Amino acid sequence: MQILILNGSPRPKGHTAAMAAAFAESARETGHDVHVADVCRMHISGCLGCDYCRGEGQGRCVQRDGMDEIYPLLERAEMLVLASPIYYHGFSGQLQCAINRIYALDKPKSLKCSALILSSGSADVYGGAIYEYRSSFLDYMGLEDKGIVTYDEEHGDFEAVLEKLRRMGRSLERDRRTISLEEFLAALDSGEPVRAGSPVSMKMHELSQEALRLTAELNGSYHSPREIREIFAELTGRPVEKGFGLFPPFYTDCGKNIKLGSNVFINSGCHFQDQGGIEIGDGALIGHGVVLATLDHGLLPEERHDLKPGRITIGKNVWIGSNSTVLRGVTIGDNAVVAAGAVVTKDVPANTIVGGAPARVLREIDPEKDRLK
Ligand SMILES: Cc1cc2nc3c(=O)[nH]c(=O)nc-3n(C[C@H](O)[C@H](O)[C@H](O)COP(=O)(O)O)c2cc1C
Repeated sequence: MQILILNGSPRPKGHTAAMAAAFAESARETGHDVHVADVCRMHISGCLGCDYCRGEGQGRCVQRDGMDEIYPLLERAEMLVLASPIYYHGFSGQLQCAINRIYALDKPKSLKCSALILSSGSADVYGGAIYEYRSSFLDYMGLEDKGIVTYDEEHGDFEAVLEKLRRMGRSLERDRRTISLEEFLAALDSGEPVRAGSPVSMKMHELSQEALRLTAELNGSYHSPREIREIFAELTGRPVEKGFGLFPPFYTDCGKNIKLGSNVFINSGCHFQDQGGIEIGDGALIGHGVVLATLDHGLLPEERHDLKPGRITIGKNVWIGSNSTVLRGVTIGDNAVVAAGAVVTKDVPANTIVGGAPARVLREIDPEKDRLK
């Protein structure tokens, strides 16, 4: 399920942010795709009440601001979580602005359920926020209530509240949707993070088993060039172009997002982590032991098991020297040469030689001086 949390606290290390994070983390563990929008940092203005959205705008607000980012998330979201400190017995002003601007969509089309997270200085101050939540979201939008969790600084046990939110995340039904290969590739090609336990990550696991089986077959004994082409076609799920050559062993834990041009040669011992997409142009030569890595892990500890994909594009006639590593999102221009042992972290201009870790341009290829003699 797609879950959108609107965090209305301006304090990044405050109680509301920690409460939203506790829920988000456990919901992700249950396989849901959770997006936390910090509305206080998004410059969202209040509704102008001009009704442009209800007429000429056809659901589009006349104002251009942080809501431009929120509207598509709202349209995709199946669950909306409102998280806010109590300010003067209601939501924070920034969250209230965002809520009022939902008016442009009237009832966001995918929303089915919602929850409310509130933090306050004292007890029994939630009436205003809960009234608005129940009247506007449960009654008017017809959403199912998944729970209201409050914390008051005077009397509350914060660790117990966080645990309650973790339980709430875990109690959401596990997202067991199975997705097709096409949906998987579309999700990876979008460059959006792949959350641990989500249907996309489950498909990734399924594909990795198939790839491990096929590469074991490829690497386990001698195969003729024709047999290698057949196994490689099965591994990538597409026909192999003319002039393709590969010296095993070859390693991949996906295979289905590799696209090769004609006359590509892959030398022995290469590792293609291709979930994020690997595209190799005509005539490219990939040296011994080259690693192409299209997935990064999250840097935040709570996102360490999530993945960020990015396509690696290798131009025509590129030569990648042995034991080089090319990282997520890099494009290598036509005819470029990557010196052995390089770690390529940034795009490489066409017709240049790069080397080092991180790789930098050493020089341009000279059509006269560099001719073989
Ligand atoms: C402008 C403002 C208004 C507040 N109004 C109330 C209030 O009406 N009742 C209350 O109990 N606490 C009130 N508080 C205290 C906050 O709700 C409380 O400190 C909350 O836990 C802050 O959440 P945070 O840590 O996520 O920022 C107010 C705080 C501010 C800054």
